[in-house]
Amino acid sequence: MLNFEFQNPTKIIFGKGQISKLSDEIRKDQNILMVYGGGSIKKNGVYDQVTKALKDHQVTEFEGVPANPEYETLLEALEVIREKEIDFILAVGGGSVIDGVKFLSAAAKFEGKEPWDILANSIRTYKGLPFGTVLTLPATGSEMNSGSVISRRETQEKRAMGGPGLFPQFSVLDPEVIHSIPQRQIANGLVDSFSHVLEQYLTYPVAARLQDRIAESVMQTLIEVAPKVMEDPSDYDAASDFMWSCTMALNGLLRVGSPNDWSTHMMAHELTALYGIDHARTLAIIHPSQMSHMFDDKKEKLAQYGERIWNITEGSVEEKAKQAIQKTENYFHSLDIKTKLSEYTEDYEKTAEIIKKRFEERNWKGLGERKNISPEDAEKIVEMSY
Ligand code: NZQ
Ligand code: ZN
Repeated sequence: MLNFEFQNPTKIIFGKGQISKLSDEIRKDQNILMVYGGGSIKKNGVYDQVTKALKDHQVTEFEGVPANPEYETLLEALEVIREKEIDFILAVGGGSVIDGVKFLSAAAKFEGKEPWDILANSIRTYKGLPFGTVLTLPATGSEMNSGSVISRRETQEKRAMGGPGLFPQFSVLDPEVIHSIPQRQIANGLVDSFSHVLEQYLTYPVAARLQDRIAESVMQTLIEVAPKVMEDPSDYDAASDFMWSCTMALNGLLRVGSPNDWSTHMMAHELTALYGIDHARTLAIIHPSQMSHMFDDKKEKLAQYGERIWNITEGSVEEKAKQAIQKTENYFHSLDIKTKLSEYTEDYEKTAEIIKKRFEERNWKGLGERKNISPEDAEKIVEMSY
């Protein structure tokens, strides 16, 4: 096992009816900005629960953070924070709203001129404006981590940011919110969280047995509940397992003491930036070709994953590893998620070259757990996913 430090300060408030506890988590003298997305919370009862819980607090609302939170929109919210002297932000939504709020938390304390520099220059945030979240869509794990991904349509960019100052103070996880999520978004959540485990698990063996088994149990739970939540999102037991698995997949616990990859996410983010494809679907496009291209580096863990997750018992390490890649792709297909770029856009032929150039411009010489995925490798991987 590699050396590590671990600290996660986010308080999780989990279960039915827990949104009412918001009033205990935010002080009455705080000036709150409640941030949400395109209005799903007004149809499914979440808005009513939040406003009821905060009826004696001072709340200003900011509506309209879009999926893949957009920089321009967030700058409008930043104006409100400054004008109204907001000192607490409450995100009510999925990963996009929460990530948008993390950006606001960082930007409100940022002393530079152009907040985009936080993303472009990878400036870490050590102290942000305090915020909490009410999660409405299990997927990203953003409710219990300190990362955020922001898009800028003007330049077709999607960049990541983070820092120890960007953990939510608390997150309310009520599995009942899942009943209103469209099936397509539930499938996205299942694939995104599964991918988060793969990024931290499918590297090379370092005898981190406990982390491996926690990772495997998150994947097994996701696979087990997937058909249940897809069929009936109001199945509370399945929804609870789904929600907690998504949080556990990316709250830092799996990454400690072992190597981490994340190159699939880096390539996939470019596909969303270029074509607006849903985050989870871009991961399903890149994962199989990334695993195949990096086969020699990953085959031991791929074989272990094949044995323990997909019950592949026959064959050599290489054979098991190959079958594991196929099983992963089949799993994405079983959720009605396509795994080829050409199935999402006709305009794909120059994609690999564009991504290679972007990585070169950013000086991203070596991605992945061994830092050996060059811009040329990224080009090949993206090409293999056409
Ligand atoms: O905007 P509203 O009206 O709320 O509708 C949303 C949105 O259209 C809807 N929705 C959310 N909860 C719902 C609901 N509809 C009905 N009932 C509910 N209970 O779902 C749509 C998608 O929401 P979004 O927040 O965009 O989805 P998700 O949670 O998948 O977030 C995706 C974003 O997170 C980033 C992605 O790149 C992407 O920008 N990620 C963030 C990470 C992090 N911070 O750790 C890690 C991830 O790898 C990922 O990159
Ligand atoms: Zn993701």
